[in-house]
Amino acid sequence: MSAPGSEARPAVAAGPSLLIYGANGYTGDLIARRAVERGLRPILAGRTAAPVERLASELHLPHRVFSLDEAAAVDAGLEGTGAVLHCAGPFSRTSRPMADGCLRRGVHYLDITGEGAVFAALALRDAEARAAGVSLLPGVGFDVVPSDGLAAHLARRLPGASRLTLAFKAVGQPSRGTTLTALEGLHLGGMIRRGGKLTRVPAAWRTRAFDFGRGPVACMTIPWGDVWTAWHTTGIPDIEVYMAAPPALRAFARASRVLGPLLGSGPVQRGLAAWVRARVTGPDAEARAKGRSLLYGEVEHADGRRAAARLLAPEGYAFTALAAVECAERVLAGQARQGFLTPSLAFGPDLSLAIPGVERVDL
Ligand SMILES: NC(=O)c1ccc[n+]([C@@H]2O[C@H](COP(=O)([O-])OP(=O)(O)OC[C@H]3O[C@@H](n4cnc5c(N)ncnc54)[C@H](OP(=O)(O)O)[C@@H]3O)[C@@H](O)[C@H]2O)c1
Repeated sequence: MSAPGSEARPAVAAGPSLLIYGANGYTGDLIARRAVERGLRPILAGRTAAPVERLASELHLPHRVFSLDEAAAVDAGLEGTGAVLHCAGPFSRTSRPMADGCLRRGVHYLDITGEGAVFAALALRDAEARAAGVSLLPGVGFDVVPSDGLAAHLARRLPGASRLTLAFKAVGQPSRGTTLTALEGLHLGGMIRRGGKLTRVPAAWRTRAFDFGRGPVACMTIPWGDVWTAWHTTGIPDIEVYMAAPPALRAFARASRVLGPLLGSGPVQRGLAAWVRARVTGPDAEARAKGRSLLYGEVEHADGRRAAARLLAPEGYAFTALAAVECAERVLAGQARQGFLTPSLAFGPDLSLAIPGVERVDL
């Protein structure tokens, strides 16, 4: 762990350009500021001119305005860049056109998605990415960098493990984009991995108490990105992911089993999205500075052996900005191989330990 002032300067400041797309969003803005703090001069981009121009002017950075609706506009927007750090979500709508552009233009692709379907779609393009000489590296935010690293670390400690369990306790409120993205999946229920295969389960299928370091906390299963990525990273066939959930949230999740069709309907989705856009702002600077994220992971072998570890990390959005820029720097420095990658496949199980404020404890 190092203080921000003592961090080494990146080797890529004068190298190929980084383009941050969706830079005017809540998380894109944090990432742009972190990139500047690291001595990078990214091109800021997005589809709406005024907020992108405002941020670029404040940070004295170049900017580009283009939408993802037309391939020619994306190609022109990527001209002369070495890597894209894609921050515009929900990624169910934005990942495909940006990844298409990156593959056409030979530009590395990174994003901050946590959406399972997006990981699955990008994983299918591994051969295409290798042929284009491009790294496809989704999930460089809070979901999945620390948990993916924990999974890889535990798999390294217990080779041949057949079962992986991950649990999160994130203290603090979500951003607008995270809430809108979660809304999209509200009616889809849960997801686990069994025998290497994605398996649908009801929302809050299982509850279990985990000790994140301060006593047992009730958690429920969630369909987070690790159900997809941890399998690519570790090859462990049985994976469950849990999140700390107070009784009201668990009750809501169970109710969504019945309310699913209603929650997924167009009018209800539009109504909830409008409410989120009007009300949800995301954690302020003080909440980001004070917040902490707690993770727990365990692996079990068929012969009964097990290994477990905990990870303490900064608040989720603060972590996302730190991790996303760390990964972008490494990609631009040529440290990632080509093709589809999870963060740990790209940079090893200890990537998180390079992020200021992260501590891992083996149990
Ligand atoms: N994995 C993680 O740990 C993690 C952490 C943080 C965020 N995220 C994800 O990152 C995404 C952004 O979150 P946020 O809170 O920053 O959201 P936000 O503040 O609502 O910003 C969303 C950004 O995406 C842009 N955008 C949305 N749809 C677009 C489209 N169809 N085409 C082009 N640009 C589009 C928006 O542009 P306009 O302003 O022009 O609408 C804006 O720049 C969400 O999906 C969230 O779940 C993940």
